[in-house]
Amino acid sequence: MIENQNYSQILSIKPQKLPPESTNFQTDDSINYNQVINQENFKILLRDKKFLNHFLTKESPKFFEDFELGDFLNEGGCGVVYDGRMRKRKNKQKLAFKFKYSRKGNDNKDEFQEIGILKKLHHKNITNIYAFTKIGEKFYYCVLELGKHGDLEKFQKIILKKKVLSETILCYFSKQILEGLKYIHRCKIIHNDIKQGNIVIDSNLDIKITDFSVSCTYANFEPDEKVAFPFMGTSKYICPEILNRTLMPIREACKIDIYSLGVTLYVAALGKFPYELNKVENKKYENILKNIQDKPLEFPINNKISPKFKNFLSKLLDKNYSTRINIQQALNDPWIKGAEIIQEEKENLGSIENFLAKLITDNIPKFNEYISDKLDSFF
Ligand SMILES: Nc1ncnc2c1ncn2[C@@H]1O[C@H](COP(=O)(O)OP(=O)(O)O)[C@@H](O)[C@H]1O
Ligand SMILES: [Mg+2]
Repeated sequence: MIENQNYSQILSIKPQKLPPESTNFQTDDSINYNQVINQENFKILLRDKKFLNHFLTKESPKFFEDFELGDFLNEGGCGVVYDGRMRKRKNKQKLAFKFKYSRKGNDNKDEFQEIGILKKLHHKNITNIYAFTKIGEKFYYCVLELGKHGDLEKFQKIILKKKVLSETILCYFSKQILEGLKYIHRCKIIHNDIKQGNIVIDSNLDIKITDFSVSCTYANFEPDEKVAFPFMGTSKYICPEILNRTLMPIREACKIDIYSLGVTLYVAALGKFPYELNKVENKKYENILKNIQDKPLEFPINNKISPKFKNFLSKLLDKNYSTRINIQQALNDPWIKGAEIIQEEKENLGSIENFLAKLITDNIPKFNEYISDKLDSFF
């Protein structure tokens, strides 16, 4: 719910055409939402379930024939996400509903690229898409597989209430993220925005990669064709070759996702970005980008991560894409191999609650021994 907010104020953020009678949406069914909601106020308004209900009743009434709308979950750069259910489904399994403002309207096919890509991908570590519907010319929603525990950041801060994630959790999740990425890349797609917010966790504590909003497909290129990738993802996760506008062979472009995974794991494990500026430095955006390009990778003093993990992170965060490890090398890395110990524990326990408790308390001794090199001969 939007508290202490006047809808007319929100509706009037750079309105395109605001009818005078639209001062209170709750009593006025004559509002044409397609006219009054714009890119600036879209997320503020759709965060409010009461407003969203009204909006859908008016602009897409069929929604309620097919679905029940649940609670607001989160929002990203351009989408607002709720949970809910499909009425016809017998098992009443919960789903995710992503509402999105389509900036360029109907004619711009790129706006729906996310949907096209999601429809093509079928893998256990990628969110499945069940439906997609346009609402007028400016909006659409898609129905996705739900990550019950939310994204990686929510899982860490709200569910586990921890400042950082343990190596046990990160190793177990990383293996699955890599499996998902391997599949995406095999389909000649680059995700282009790997970060905590775009990785969700389902009820079985398995990873689903989501949000293909800025993904690109390179199926039409020859493997040796050289391209300079545009800057489209999230700045702190962006790799040096994109910042440097380096011309790179398309077969190496997957390394963009490898680097962003490195940043994702670094932040989750150490609670800070690899190239944050300290207090005395000028916190200008350009300075951060410059550090990503030039500053050697460092780890905080007194960090508690294992040498195996540090080594793995350094390989993911190699500034030079041609020496940075590829997906297969990452999957074969000794630190990632530790995920097999955790998976074995999960299968032996047979209960998700017990497994979660073990993950939270870091209580998988065989894994801890393995990463501390006491059990190097395990594999
Ligand atoms: N399938 C899902 N299950 C659970 N939460 C989700 C799901 N999809 C998105 N979210 C939540 O909503 C947020 C925004 O969704 P996202 O697809 O990343 O939108 P955007 O394109 O705006 O970044 C995510 O960071 C995540 O917290
Ligand atoms: Mg996102």
